[in-house]
Amino acid sequence: SLGGYDHYMLKEIFEQPESIRNAMRGRLDDQDATAVFGGLNLTPQQLRSVERIILTGCGTSWHSALVGEYLIEGLARIPVSVEYASELRYRNPPIENNTLVFGITQSGETADTLAALRETKRKGHRTLAICNVVASSIAQAADGGVYLHAGPEIGVASTKAYTSQCCVLAMLALYFGRTRHLSFEGGQRLIEELRRLPTAVQQALTCDEQVRDVAKKYCDATNVLYLGRQYNFPTALEGALKLKEISYIHAEGYPAAEMKHGPIALVDEKTPSVFIVPRGTTHDKVMANMEEVKARGGPIIAVASHDDPHIEAIADDVIRVPQVQEFLQPIVTVVPLQLLSYHIALLRGCDVDKPRNLAKSVTVE
Ligand code: F6R
Repeated sequence: SLGGYDHYMLKEIFEQPESIRNAMRGRLDDQDATAVFGGLNLTPQQLRSVERIILTGCGTSWHSALVGEYLIEGLARIPVSVEYASELRYRNPPIENNTLVFGITQSGETADTLAALRETKRKGHRTLAICNVVASSIAQAADGGVYLHAGPEIGVASTKAYTSQCCVLAMLALYFGRTRHLSFEGGQRLIEELRRLPTAVQQALTCDEQVRDVAKKYCDATNVLYLGRQYNFPTALEGALKLKEISYIHAEGYPAAEMKHGPIALVDEKTPSVFIVPRGTTHDKVMANMEEVKARGGPIIAVASHDDPHIEAIADDVIRVPQVQEFLQPIVTVVPLQLLSYHIALLRGCDVDKPRNLAKSVTVE
């Protein structure tokens, strides 16, 4: 049931502190400063011998794969490639031995993701699923996997499944890191940050009312750009996809610095840009990218950290999110973007939970 919310999408956005808590429940191991997973079905030797990881999925799940690439390469130093499942299944790429393939999927029924996993498994590679729906086709087809435990996601636009996927990938990065160079203290620090996450997401949700005002200002736009770098580049893609899906506004996500290689030509006073610019290593670079857009008269919405005093001087609207370590930022920064698309869609009279032309799971090619 809707539990007092107007739509499933809104309910599921607000469930995220809890769904993230559920993704972590029983999986953080203080004793060994690592993460534990019941269903990987791989021996420690097999896991230790992994030399390469492929993350594959579709749509929003593909975006979480991109976050996973930054996480696993950054924290565990294992080379990762991210593949659209629809491309992977026919591309026949050479895959080295000791490659582990993860299919990421909320429903566990996406035809392309299932086919990509089956094809790589047939060739003898180990396949695992990161999946929400228990005993779904992909969960059964894989050699093992990790459930999200996010609870049913009914709104067609994926929200809580995405943040849970990112959270599981962060725990996998911790786990793989601890089988390699990541120290006990390093593992402890990551666990501490993970434990803070549900509260941070709870705080991020308090921006809802302010996001509603921002939505009023921009709901008539016909094009919106979403820009972020590093861990927040996938957030830009996901923010743009959410807006396209449920409000039917054309939106594009880019790594912020790619702007000047083409998309900046789109900027005018009617084309807002959403910058995801929390504190972190690329903060100042993204600020410089913001200046470039401002100089061309483009309205700017910034998703920024609480303690960032300089942002108001450039951005027309600032949505504040709590500061978390960079590797967890995508889970926090996506929250206002989910809400922004929700409120804009409402203002435009769109059917938020059942957007046109879309189905909750895509079981055809
Ligand atoms: C976006 C959305 C779709 C799905 C995609 C994959 O909001 O819902 O892009 O993410 O169809 O679905 P799953 O994760 O079920 O494989």
